Amino acid sequence: MCGIVGIIGVEPVAGRLVDALKRLEYRGYDSAGVATLEEGEIARRRAPGKLANLAGRLADEPLSGRIGIGHTRWATHGAPTEQNAHPHATARVAVVHNGIIENFRDLLADLARDGYQPQTQTDTESVALWATRELDNGADPELAVSRTLKQLRGAFALAFLFKGEEALLIGARRGAPLAIGHGKDEMYLGSDAMALAPFTSRLTYLQDGDWAVVTAEGVTIRDAHDAVVARDMQVSQASALLVDKGNHRHFMAKEIYEQPETISHTLSHYLDMASGTVSLREDLPFDFDDLSRMTISACGTAYYAGCVGKYWFERHARLPVDIDVASEFRYREPPLEKNGLSLFISQSGETADTLAALRYCAGQGQHIASLINTLESTIARESQVVFPILCGPEIGVASTKAFTAQLVSLASIAIAAGRARGALTPQVERGLVEALIGLPSAVSQALAAEEQIVEIARHLSRAKDVLYLGRGPMFPIAMEGALKLKEISYIHAEGYAAGELKHGPIALIDEDMPVIVVAPSDELAEKTLSNMQEVAARGGRIILITDEEGARTVGHGVAETILMPKVDSFVSPIVATVPVQLLAYHTAVAMGTDVDQPRNLAKSVTVE
Ligand code: AGP
Repeated sequence: MCGIVGIIGVEPVAGRLVDALKRLEYRGYDSAGVATLEEGEIARRRAPGKLANLAGRLADEPLSGRIGIGHTRWATHGAPTEQNAHPHATARVAVVHNGIIENFRDLLADLARDGYQPQTQTDTESVALWATRELDNGADPELAVSRTLKQLRGAFALAFLFKGEEALLIGARRGAPLAIGHGKDEMYLGSDAMALAPFTSRLTYLQDGDWAVVTAEGVTIRDAHDAVVARDMQVSQASALLVDKGNHRHFMAKEIYEQPETISHTLSHYLDMASGTVSLREDLPFDFDDLSRMTISACGTAYYAGCVGKYWFERHARLPVDIDVASEFRYREPPLEKNGLSLFISQSGETADTLAALRYCAGQGQHIASLINTLESTIARESQVVFPILCGPEIGVASTKAFTAQLVSLASIAIAAGRARGALTPQVERGLVEALIGLPSAVSQALAAEEQIVEIARHLSRAKDVLYLGRGPMFPIAMEGALKLKEISYIHAEGYAAGELKHGPIALIDEDMPVIVVAPSDELAEKTLSNMQEVAARGGRIILITDEEGARTVGHGVAETILMPKVDSFVSPIVATVPVQLLAYHTAVAMGTDVDQPRNLAKSVTVE
């Protein structure tokens, strides 16, 4: 949700703090700020909006301090103004914070009784004020932080900077990620490996409850009971090269066009091309054949990937699947079979709702597996088994290549599960694998519809509401298409099971409501045809996404047909994803919205 960073340097740090924040901007970009020590005194520069505004502020009013902290914000409490921008500080301490302090009002009420009054609307300021009162009462910085942390309720990562302490930062982690970076004569704090990649690849990840006293010589880590603990130092694989857009206008466009390559990369991990079979790691702590049921939990686009996966596991592995959005699943507290398998899908590996659902299942004795892109993430670290999706850093807030990489990974795992459960003959398995192997070229062909889609998107950008319809595994693709459109163009859109249209939503249909029907020529196409006729009979304007055969059989009377290549129905949900991604992208471009960093969103939602 927000990104935090800290440096104890041997040269001025302000510029490098901003560079690190640029790599964290995907976590939120409502405002940003840095604090350094200038002759021992805390000095801040903050700016609303994008990081470029903060860089401009620093160009006008430079900071020369060799120690500092920085923050890029996704607003949870208080409007995204400069006043509410982190770092929050008193004369004695500055704090940056990722997460939510749930009891901040109680803390502020207690502080007010001693005359400590907040100047902002943020929960974070309660932390700065509490630590200040501890310092005023004679505690040293370590004791002040230790006492402050014990007062806090909620999920957070924090970094503290102290007046007069030229070589001391303190970091704390409870529910949001924080890593310690080990440099040459320098030390670092950061929300993730990407932020610290330009400085060091030697990282120590704090665990929940840990807090770390960082000096120029190194770090002392304590747990929630203040006992000194040892945490492993790892060598991060995060790329030091800041991901760039290549020759695309937006990261989202680049990531849509990367999909033939990223799908190939993911497939090479799961498929043994020589034998034409799926080869999963040998040391799985569970046997698919022993499972009576699997639960899947995720959020947003990752959830829709799981919904497609459900069709595959049930059809090809005969494995019943329960799936729910993580924010509902964790509070539903579903009864789970002992030794059952719970699968969590997350691009970032830091989504708070998904992590909480994982911890619920771990507490129920489930085998915990996750499908992850960011392998050095909390969900990955708390999983017994990590299935990587390997699509590379995804910078666009709207997920595209990660979604298709999730689907390819799920399809591969479903095949392996089918084989383990005796539900697939070698011949059928080979057919499914062949379909997967053909995906990169099929996705490249689907991208060729872009020019036509640009035109359709121009019309779509004038709509107020859009309906997406699909049957079977195309139903989650309809929901994903609707999510893509609404999250980057801000047009209201809904994805519906085509068969459900007649049970209410058909009341919405008129000539102003574009209806996007995702219907490749599979065994359900005829059924969807009747739904399309219901729409056409009421003057609805249909945009059909199908293949040549589908256009011939069900494409009569539609306003537009977007063609995709004819592929095995097993992989058609993956191919159909491309036109819905392009439709959303070009509609947003036509509307002039901020495609890569849409309003109100963040790439990784690390609070409930
Ligand atoms: C997808 O376009 C959205 N940005 C959002 O729904 C996202 O998929 C969701 O927040 C889950 O994120 P995760 O995969 O990192 O857990």
